[in-house]
Amino acid sequence: VTLTGDDFASITENTALVRELRERIAREGMISFRDFMDTVLYHPLHGYYRAGGASSRDYVTSPQVHPVFGALVGRQLHQLWVVMGQPARFYIVEQGAGDGRLARDIRRWAHDRAREFGAAMRYIIVEPAPELRAAQKHTLTEVGDHLDDVNWSDTLPDSIEGCVLSNELLDAFPVHRVFRHGDELLEVYVALEGERFVDRFAAPSTPEIARYFEVLDLLPGDECYAEVNLDAPYWIAHVATALRRGYVLTFDYGYEADQLYAPWRRDGTLLCSYRQSASSDPYQRLGRQDMTASVDFTTLRCSGARSGLALAGSTDQGSFLSRLGLGRGVAASGGQLEEYFARRDVMLRLIDPAGLGRIRVLLMAKGVPDARLDGFYDA
Ligand SMILES: C[S@@+](CC[C@H](N)C(=O)[O-])C[C@H]1O[C@@H](n2cnc3c(N)ncnc32)[C@H](O)[C@@H]1O
Repeated sequence: VTLTGDDFASITENTALVRELRERIAREGMISFRDFMDTVLYHPLHGYYRAGGASSRDYVTSPQVHPVFGALVGRQLHQLWVVMGQPARFYIVEQGAGDGRLARDIRRWAHDRAREFGAAMRYIIVEPAPELRAAQKHTLTEVGDHLDDVNWSDTLPDSIEGCVLSNELLDAFPVHRVFRHGDELLEVYVALEGERFVDRFAAPSTPEIARYFEVLDLLPGDECYAEVNLDAPYWIAHVATALRRGYVLTFDYGYEADQLYAPWRRDGTLLCSYRQSASSDPYQRLGRQDMTASVDFTTLRCSGARSGLALAGSTDQGSFLSRLGLGRGVAASGGQLEEYFARRDVMLRLIDPAGLGRIRVLLMAKGVPDARLDGFYDA
């Protein structure tokens, strides 16, 4: 029995992280919300995604619902490979692979159902965090799959021929928060009031925020909070450069800019999740709760286009999965009533218009022929 330590210490926040943030703010003064979010999610030791805290107990992503998600994404990737002329090597570069389930399910589908495609496929997971790499290796080898064609990289490789893939990566990037007051656009900073973290408004930390709204030719509604994800447009520009020939396939919660910055969205879209319950308070459960903000798909697409990517498809996840045959898979449950209901339940979760089904699916392309792609057009 140890008789030291504080028995009242919170188990729903990372106390080392809280201490470090308090000391930083006491030393440097208030910090931008973006720096705060970057720290609570990605601090190398204590961040939510680094300290092993991230878990399906807090949020559920599509690959965690059922392997059929990966199978249907695999089916779409197979068609991309065919459109590209069935190259001998097709790289799938997945960034933000979480626990590796999507990679596992795509590879399994390809090896079982599309052997030639499976033989051409090379999978690269972009993952700098050693704990997550270990989790991904564990998932990928769970049922004795070999890993000869899977590699890990700290950064996006160059000269990719294939597809850069991500699921809920961009909505987990740290965001600036802004508040519009009349003609003024203020940035939200994080300050300390006693022991409490609180919002403070001040002039924006970077001129890029004003430029961002100038390019969009709009502003958030008056007296509204909004988020600005400056990393997402940089990310797609970087991907466009790294891609020699092929596609970028992105699944993320988000909207077109006029919807995202609509005047009725008073509190923005910042969402925190802990044990599947949502809150909008970023200052509780530091390092123990997930935090996301909806992606501005207008800015993302325009940034991709400026960097040489063409729009190849844009839809919502419900329509994407349905067009690729999710419903047919439910109907094919072999007359077993229990199996039918289990499959129907999975389908309803993946296409739920109030949940996973409203995730946006964006496909951009470089150096490939135009084609009607199964996930994006009705047959
Ligand atoms: C909401 S999780 C989604 C995980 C997984 N794709 C899934 O669908 O279950 C977001 C993931 O993005 C990762 N991530 C965020 N920024 C990243 C970056 N710059 N490079 C690689 N991964 C990143 C996080 O570590 C986390 O694993």
